[in-house]
Amino acid sequence: MPENPIITFENVKKQYEEDVVLKNINLKLERGKFYTLLGPSGCGKTTILNLIAGFTEVTEGTVTINGEKVNDVPPNKRTVNTVFQDYALFPHMNVFENIAFGLRIKKMDTKTIEEKVASVLKMMRLSGYENRAISEMSGGQRQRVAIARALVNEPDVLLLDEPLSALDLKLRTDMQYELRELQQRLGITFVFVTHDQEEALAMSDEIFVMKDGKIVQSGTPVDIYDEPINRYVADFIGESNIVEATMIQDYEISFVGRTFECVDAGIAANERVEVVIRPEDLVLTTPEKGKLTVKVDTQLFRGVHYEIIGYDSEGNEWMVHSTKKATVGEMVGLFFNPEDIHVMRIGETEKEFDARLESYEEE
Ligand SMILES: Nc1ncnc2c1ncn2[C@@H]1O[C@H](COP(=O)(O)OP(=O)(O)OP(=O)(O)O)[C@@H](O)[C@H]1O
Ligand SMILES: [Mg+2]
Repeated sequence: MPENPIITFENVKKQYEEDVVLKNINLKLERGKFYTLLGPSGCGKTTILNLIAGFTEVTEGTVTINGEKVNDVPPNKRTVNTVFQDYALFPHMNVFENIAFGLRIKKMDTKTIEEKVASVLKMMRLSGYENRAISEMSGGQRQRVAIARALVNEPDVLLLDEPLSALDLKLRTDMQYELRELQQRLGITFVFVTHDQEEALAMSDEIFVMKDGKIVQSGTPVDIYDEPINRYVADFIGESNIVEATMIQDYEISFVGRTFECVDAGIAANERVEVVIRPEDLVLTTPEKGKLTVKVDTQLFRGVHYEIIGYDSEGNEWMVHSTKKATVGEMVGLFFNPEDIHVMRIGETEKEFDARLESYEEE
């Protein structure tokens, strides 16, 4: 846990009339890190950003910035800036005036404004575009203007609400690198919102996976990818094969009628669990050499690999990423290593989670 967090949420609840849209959010964000809020539409991502920025008020709980409670502090008094999904640029102003706008409101002198704008334009590789109309800029350029406009205020925290969703795939990937590099160079805290799991995995120091106004799991991209806490996270964070299983004893697990060596210990014997195996961890082989046998149902060429889907004897679906081709209708073997089996404790995590929520609610 960070000693001196830049932002904290303590038991934050947000309600619109009868509608509880955030249920007891607890966060501690460190300085200079790249955080991502990841979750489906309507789960409360923008609401969290709005609470940090001060565009909306908490119903219950406390938000702090730099150790100070900010529940009643207006947005312009917070050292936070937001890049909105639609950029919200002023179409009738040129690039320079868009970026200078906030500084003019603060009544800064002209020379300082010119210096600061020139510096962020350079940083965002927009030098020379000062007098361009916004309508004459491409999507990617507008996006950079929106970031420059936020950075010119030298915020401690930059909030980015799905800033890349309007861009095409190539530009989006370029901007992912650019944003990550910028964040590391400036050393300020970024809170980035996306519903794209690949984007979250590529960019973040830490990811918060959200569902229905709750944070279901937080951790580094590798933690969340390798050790999803439940089926929801496993499904959301990437393509995965999930089957029901039974823990036999430490380091031994059974599924699809067979027993396998695994790397998990500390779970009760005979506990019902779920197992995740990633498609890229499965190796296509002959039925004799495989640990599981499946009948190939479909095969798609995905450029880097074939995506093969087959069914085992119990009707479970298995997706395999393979550079080798299979034939639809044939029986193939799937090989995997003990460490590729990720065990998730079904009931327990959900129950624990709800119990924790209830204990907060009772306080
Ligand atoms: N001003 C408001 N009044 C009433 N309900 C609201 C208001 N703002 C948001 N909500 C509701 O709060 C919930 C969370 O909304 P939020 O905008 O935070 O979702 P989101 O995760 O950002 O979704 P998306 O990915 O679609 O942007 C939604 O059910 C939404 O309808
Ligand atoms: Mg949103």
